[in-house]
Amino acid sequence: MASMIASSKVVTLGALIFLLLVSYGLCTRIVNFNASHITADPYWVAARATWYGAPTGAGPYDNGGACGFKNVNLPPFSAMTSCGNQPLFKDGKGCGSCYQIRCLNHPACSGNPETVAITDMNYYPVAKYHFDLSGTAFGALAQPGRNDELRHAGIIDIQFKRVPCIYPGLTVTFHIEHGSNPVYFAVLVEFEDGDGDVVQVDLMEANSGWWTPMRESWGSIWRLDSNHRLRAPFSLRITNESGQKLVAYQVIPANWAPNTYYRSNIQYQAMSSGAGLDMSSGAGLDISSTAGLVISSAAGLDTKILGISGLICLVLFCLHGIEVP
Ligand SMILES: *[C@@H]1O[C@H](CO)[C@@H](O)[C@H](O)[C@H]1NC(C)=O
Ligand SMILES: *[C@@H]1O[C@H](CO)[C@@H](O)[C@H](O)[C@H]1NC(C)=O
Repeated sequence: MASMIASSKVVTLGALIFLLLVSYGLCTRIVNFNASHITADPYWVAARATWYGAPTGAGPYDNGGACGFKNVNLPPFSAMTSCGNQPLFKDGKGCGSCYQIRCLNHPACSGNPETVAITDMNYYPVAKYHFDLSGTAFGALAQPGRNDELRHAGIIDIQFKRVPCIYPGLTVTFHIEHGSNPVYFAVLVEFEDGDGDVVQVDLMEANSGWWTPMRESWGSIWRLDSNHRLRAPFSLRITNESGQKLVAYQVIPANWAPNTYYRSNIQYQAMSSGAGLDMSSGAGLDISSTAGLVISSAAGLDTKILGISGLICLVLFCLHGIEVP
C-alpha cells in the first residue's frame, strides 16, 4: 500500500514536471507575445494597463459595469477592480475572476503584486491582454506616494497571472435582479472562492425534484424565462469550471423580492494560497490554472488522473495556440 502511494506520487510528480515543461517550454513560445514583453519569470504574462473613472474610484460611474456587480467600491472588491478585454472578460464568463498584476517598467512602479477582480469589460485594441483598471487599482501598482505620477503615465506595461479568488468570511451570494417576476427570474451570482466564476446555474422550484437550467444573461447574471409561474422557494445549483456542483437548498424564500441579496451557506474551497499562487500561472490562462488547482489539491490516484487530464487540456490549449497567427 505504502509503495502504491509512493509510486503514484512519483507519477504525479512526473506529470507535474512534464506539465511545467510543456507550459513553459511550449506554450509560452507558441503564443505570440511581443518578444520585448517576455520576462524572465515564466509565470507572469505581459499585458498593458490603462485606467478609467475617478482617479481614486472603482471604475464605472454606475458602479456596476458589464458584470453587473454592485458596490464594487466596497469590500470585498474595495475598488480593486478591472475591465478585461475579451481574453479576460470571455463574454462574461471571466466576471469575478482574480488576477495578480504588477508593473516594473515605469520609475513609479513598486513591482509588488496586487490582486484585482474582473468586474467590467473593454473593447479597445490596446494589447493582447488589456486591463483597464479602476483608478484605485492602477494607483496601487505605484510606490507609496507616487500613485498620481503613475496614473499620469496613462498606459503602462504590466504583468499578470491568474490566481484563485479568496473572499474571507463570505459565502456565495445571490442578488435577484430588478425586473424579476414569477415568469422571469434573473440572478447575479457573487463571491465564489476559487474560480470566482460559475459555468452553470440551475434552479429547482419548491419540492419539484428536478433542475431547470438557467442561461447566462450577461456578465455574472443568469436568467430563467418560464412558461409557468415559478413556485418558490427556489434552490439554486452552481457549477464551477472544474465541474464541481454546489446546491444552495431553498436559498430563495417563498416571499422573495427583486433587488434583494440572499446569502447562501455554500462556498467553494480555494486551495491553500501558496500552492494556488505558484501553480495557477503556466501560460497565465484559465486552463493552466485549473490544472494547477487540481494537482495541488487532490492526492494519490485522483491526482494522477486529474493531473493527466489537466495535462491533456493544456496540450490541447497549446495546439490551439499554434493556430493563432
Ligand atoms: C513590441 O513592443 C515594443 C515596446 O513596447 C513596441 O515598440 C513595438 O511596437 C511592439 N511590437 C509589436 C509588433 O507589437
Ligand atoms: C471547484 O470546487 C471544488 C470544490 O470546492 C474545489 O476543490 C475546486 O478547486 C474548484 N475549482 C476551481 C477551478 O476553483
